[in-house]
Amino acid sequence: MINTMWGGRFAGSPAEAMEEINASIEFDRQLAAQDIAGSEAHLAMLARQGIVEAADAEAIARGLAQVKGEIEAGTFSFSRALEDIHMNIESRLSEIVGPAAGRLHTARSRNDQVAVDFRLWVRDAIDAILLQIEALQRALAARALETAAMVMPGFTHLQSAQPVTFGHHLLAHVEMLARDAGRFKDARKRLNECPLGAAALAGTSFPIDRDMTAKALGFDRPTANSLDSVADRDFALEALAAAAIAATHLSRFAEEIVLWTTPQFGFVRLSDAFTTGSSIMPQKRNPDAAELVRGKTGRIVGALIGLLTVMKGLPLAYAKDMQEDKEGVFDAFRTLALSLAAMTGMVEDLTPDPKRMKAAAGAGYATATDLADWLTRALKLPFREAHHVTGRIVALAASRGVALEKLTLEEMKSVEPRITEEAFSVLGVERSVGSRASYGGTAPANVRRQAKAWLKRLGPG
Ligand code: ARG
Repeated sequence: MINTMWGGRFAGSPAEAMEEINASIEFDRQLAAQDIAGSEAHLAMLARQGIVEAADAEAIARGLAQVKGEIEAGTFSFSRALEDIHMNIESRLSEIVGPAAGRLHTARSRNDQVAVDFRLWVRDAIDAILLQIEALQRALAARALETAAMVMPGFTHLQSAQPVTFGHHLLAHVEMLARDAGRFKDARKRLNECPLGAAALAGTSFPIDRDMTAKALGFDRPTANSLDSVADRDFALEALAAAAIAATHLSRFAEEIVLWTTPQFGFVRLSDAFTTGSSIMPQKRNPDAAELVRGKTGRIVGALIGLLTVMKGLPLAYAKDMQEDKEGVFDAFRTLALSLAAMTGMVEDLTPDPKRMKAAAGAGYATATDLADWLTRALKLPFREAHHVTGRIVALAASRGVALEKLTLEEMKSVEPRITEEAFSVLGVERSVGSRASYGGTAPANVRRQAKAWLKRLGPG
């Protein structure tokens, strides 16, 4: 069946299909500010090198300023027939300036132009994401300081493993975010070379000064190989890879919030600001924001896979396939920014329930390791044997249907006669977390120290 909106139109006109598939203006208009900045730097360099005469350069500079004003004011009319942002701006510039506008494109091609624009865009996006990551870390560290001694179950295999503190758990996410920030900073360093002046692919015969344009645009240096300059999209791939890992971290945290807010866990409560009700079930408080952070990870990971796939078969240098690099990156960064904002909001919003967490922390024989440690320490049992003895005591408690600390000393002694009353002192969850004072462990004193160190490192923001 022919879809009259699309198929029908293209069936009538091959030229329509060509225009539609070729044009990128609907999305690359987001590069307008970067495109103008690149042109300004290029123009200043052409003028200083005597490649464009001063009078023409001044007229073009005024024209660029006018175009910039029109785009910012929303009065610029974008045309699909003009394909992309570069041609749209150039065309308007020649309306304003006249034929001299054509001198701007000396020693330049859209290939190096789009490469420089996109690098500038990704660099700005990374800088903005870094600020948001820090804001989330700050929110987490502040909550961690408040909840440094709030006992909760720690899980492995999603089975109660050993008690930890809520603050310790939150700081785990601060560490993950720190690595995310590190990946973005690392990608930014490699990205920060300027491809402008590579022209179409081979460089140019004009006496350009690539150091000057690189410096004007805040790059560390010009790229060294003209073919690579227009063919490379590593900078976008690396940024997407960092974004995909960060989104995966946020997704894991979002999943925890989804679990914690169920009535079955009941560890935290989110306010109405971050939950929705059900139209039919009045009791529901759905953690939609957390679910959407988890769900949106798919598009960010998808953007990475998409661009890797676009790039994998391309011979050097530029190919039009590469026009497909932008939408995924734009969407991934917009999505990651939104997810970070939503997670920060939830972290600030959530109310933990210390009673529920503590009760759950004690369930499931979570202090069994503490008993094994005590047997090793006090009775000098080899840890493997202590583990075995503890296993039999846990089995005994389970058969009686009671918690470890509810067994009598006689019952304990029936398994290991040398056990004394002192063993009971390690069975409480608070004692358990307090004793885990090894570096990086969950002891409240550790958590407080690390939360404070993070808050100091992150500053007030
Ligand atoms: N719109 C194009 C892109 O995004 C700009 C570069 C076009 N270069 C070319 N040789 N047709 O990739």
